[in-house]
Amino acid sequence: MTTAPPLGAKLSVWRPINTRTFLVGAPHYPEHVDRSYWQRDADRMAAAGFNTVRLGEFAWHLFEPHEGHFEFGLFDDAIDVLGKAGIRSILCTPTATPPRWLTMNYPEVLRIDDRGRPASHGSRQHADTSSPTFRAHSRRITNALAQHYRGNPHVIGWQTDNELNTSESRSYSPYTRIEFQNYLRGRYPSIDLLNQAWGGDFWATRYDNFDQIVLPFDQAPAPLSPGHEQDYHRFLAWSVARFQSEQVAILRAANPGWFVFHNLGRLDDIDFRGNFSTDLDFLGFDIYPMLYDEMQRRGGLAIAQALHLDICRGFTGNFIVPEQQSGFGAQPRFSTLTPEPSEMRRMAYSSVARGADGLMFFRWRPAHFGAEIYWMGILDHDDVPRRRYDEAKQYATEMTALQTDLLGTHVRMDVGIAASDFDNQEAHRTYPIGLPSPLEDGHLLYRHCYQANIACGFIHPEDDLSPLKVFYVPHWVMWKDEWTAHLEAFARAGGVVVIGARTGTRDGNNHVIREAAPGSSLARLAGVEVEEFGRLAPIDGDGLFDMTRRDPGAPIGPRPPAESSRRRYTLRIGNEDYSAAHLYEVVKPVDDVEIAGTWSNRFLNGRPAITARAVGRGWVFYAGTYLTEAIAARLAGLAFQRSDVRPLIPDTPAGVEVTVRQKSNLRLTFVLNTTGEVKFVGNLPPFDRLIGDGRATAEGITLPSYGCAILRSTSAATAAAR
Ligand code: GAL
Repeated sequence: MTTAPPLGAKLSVWRPINTRTFLVGAPHYPEHVDRSYWQRDADRMAAAGFNTVRLGEFAWHLFEPHEGHFEFGLFDDAIDVLGKAGIRSILCTPTATPPRWLTMNYPEVLRIDDRGRPASHGSRQHADTSSPTFRAHSRRITNALAQHYRGNPHVIGWQTDNELNTSESRSYSPYTRIEFQNYLRGRYPSIDLLNQAWGGDFWATRYDNFDQIVLPFDQAPAPLSPGHEQDYHRFLAWSVARFQSEQVAILRAANPGWFVFHNLGRLDDIDFRGNFSTDLDFLGFDIYPMLYDEMQRRGGLAIAQALHLDICRGFTGNFIVPEQQSGFGAQPRFSTLTPEPSEMRRMAYSSVARGADGLMFFRWRPAHFGAEIYWMGILDHDDVPRRRYDEAKQYATEMTALQTDLLGTHVRMDVGIAASDFDNQEAHRTYPIGLPSPLEDGHLLYRHCYQANIACGFIHPEDDLSPLKVFYVPHWVMWKDEWTAHLEAFARAGGVVVIGARTGTRDGNNHVIREAAPGSSLARLAGVEVEEFGRLAPIDGDGLFDMTRRDPGAPIGPRPPAESSRRRYTLRIGNEDYSAAHLYEVVKPVDDVEIAGTWSNRFLNGRPAITARAVGRGWVFYAGTYLTEAIAARLAGLAFQRSDVRPLIPDTPAGVEVTVRQKSNLRLTFVLNTTGEVKFVGNLPPFDRLIGDGRATAEGITLPSYGCAILRSTSAATAAAR
């Protein structure tokens, strides 16, 4: 693997990882078995076509059994056995699990919850990454490992920690408070500026100096200032990036040839388009398709997987998957479904189709003890390789054969949904009032595209928009005027922009702007101003949203018809009326615009809701509403018609997922059967080689259950259009 320069300023969804080797293998825990297993493990990995393992993320207690006393022998030997079999090692900084001597001797490193209770020792992620004491120990262990392994030829790179912030991102310790105060001192040159930013004259929340500032505890009797909350989450993100950055600097100084990445889990309180990622060579994303709630709520595990990976790619481009679910998984209080035969391989192909340039199956073998005895691995508990081993072997062999074509390609997107912006995500979280978040709203358009196999993904407005045909901005309240210029250039060159309701309505301090929405630059671009806005009930819910109720999203009890069910508002597009939800805006044209949709009942009847303004060779739509499934489909129809967006393969049967990865002269079309039934796919694009499963005829291809086919085409004409 050659390493890329750190991502630096070039965070882009279009960025492939700079590598010639597709990393394939498994996280591996040689410390969980006795040495008699090791040679057999290495031989079996090599026979499966694996080239990499990831080691050591929970082994601090073995690397440093007593403070300042280091023992590397176990991992030295394991790395050596693996290396001699051709399996290279990625090591991890083991800071997700500080050993007991550390939490005993330095209890101030423990996270404190919002009731003042310290985290218990005995699981993981119990230490606070903003604690100066913990940071000092993190630097110490990282340095010891880096110095020891700097010359080891089998160690090729590092993962920082493990899924930072996944179990918990917040801490309310006195040490955290001091760090927060110091962060604010750096952010605001004076306490007056902080008071202005947080709105100190509302409810007497003004501070005289930085030492008075408290952490935003949830149990304040009434809501806290959104400015205070927003800055606390900015601080958490800044602080975890600082924690990681210190490790990265040590690793790079020890061996500049190593690559360094982090494996994302949950995405809380990390700014993946900030320092956190610019310090790294690429991101990793751990994907457990059967673990997500969205599976139930949003139409199945295949789309849940696609969605998570597309969101991840939106941050920095192609990524690796350091952990992908291979079998049944459980912790004591939950368990997942079990991948069926060939489904593990299908999930691994879906990851590649969405931008993975490397993939490891979690894990080589299941643990026999501890909190995850039923996270199955490639092997079973009895050390017998069965169907998961065979699938992993098939996959590894196929990926090695495909790597020359695959690496260097990016995932095609015709439709981009604005995402990856920490401030907008947090601005929503500080003041949700029961509305869908920008990502939840964007999901509706995403799902429409996914089902039709239209190339769609997530992208920040600062990124290169030129390869897109349509760009949707779902109610980003914290808009920056400089982004408007990107939208305008995109439209002038023929793109279609769709700006959702409430975009641009708050400034960087979370204050509501003092002019008509969507604010001057967007109003000029869209040719509209918002005259009035108000809340609408969700499609199946009540208009009253009260987060203090136990189940905030649920309709209030059995008392229909609620007032809101009588107050249904409709929106007319063409000759059809659509039930609207969440929010209405009355839109006033201030320039030459087409009225593409109007409110069609009650007091709003006849008032404009959706407009379209011709800008250069393209269009700028303004949609004064939130999406519903039906409105997303209709709005997509309007936008796609004016930009010639079409499915990658038309009329695919339900459950067949199509994506394209491409580079200058090459296009790889992934046609993946996400179901357990045989599927026939017609209307295939021209291709010169079929890789994977399926029997192709002139009419199309028959895919077996969970079958995966990749159509390779080198026609310059087809590959050129990204
Ligand atoms: C991941 C984590 C692993 C393992 C896995 C299965 O989030 O990084 O260490 O816990 O989940 O639960």
